[in-house]
Amino acid sequence: MSLYQLIYQSQSLVPFEARELQALLTSSRANNQQLGISGMLLYTPDGRFLQVLEGDQQAVRTLYYHHILADPRHHSCRVLCEGHCLRRSFADWSLAYRAAQAPDLRTLLGYVPPDTPALLVPRPRTRPELVELLLEFMSKGEANSWLEAQH
Ligand SMILES: Cc1cc2nc3c(=O)[nH]c(=O)nc-3n(C[C@H](O)[C@H](O)[C@H](O)COP(=O)(O)O)c2cc1C
Repeated sequence: MSLYQLIYQSQSLVPFEARELQALLTSSRANNQQLGISGMLLYTPDGRFLQVLEGDQQAVRTLYYHHILADPRHHSCRVLCEGHCLRRSFADWSLAYRAAQAPDLRTLLGYVPPDTPALLVPRPRTRPELVELLLEFMSKGEANSWLEAQH
């Protein structure tokens, strides 16, 4: 199996209530488990998502480009990186979840350069340093709700 990782950010159309987040996580976790996909999702109160998806290349790309990208619940999807990786970073989670604050996200993404024309600067294949920051954020965060506690 060719292991692949894709990280994107997006903006929710309208703020997600806890109930909606719960429904999204429940169905995504079940689906990801079936597809052999692992990953994590961050969500901020002002409606920003950051998601890592990892697994078989075709499964990850199909999920993102054919389903998630077309999901009307969010917009302004922007892939930060995608490419082959040697191992899973979120192997234990079909979709880990952490609530984040807007400044957390700004810090995490602080070093990501603004969009540059793809023809001039190819998108980096993976961003191990961003994954490291996300893993650190996950481990520090309090699993203080069932949304976060479930894998
Ligand atoms: C921010 C966000 C993240 C999502 N993450 C996943 C995911 O990890 N796995 C998944 O199966 N669906 C995820 N979805 C839901 C998909 O967009 C889609 O509704 C689901 O795959 C069902 O596909 P379909 O509606 O095309 O049948 C996500 C949706 C949003 C808005």
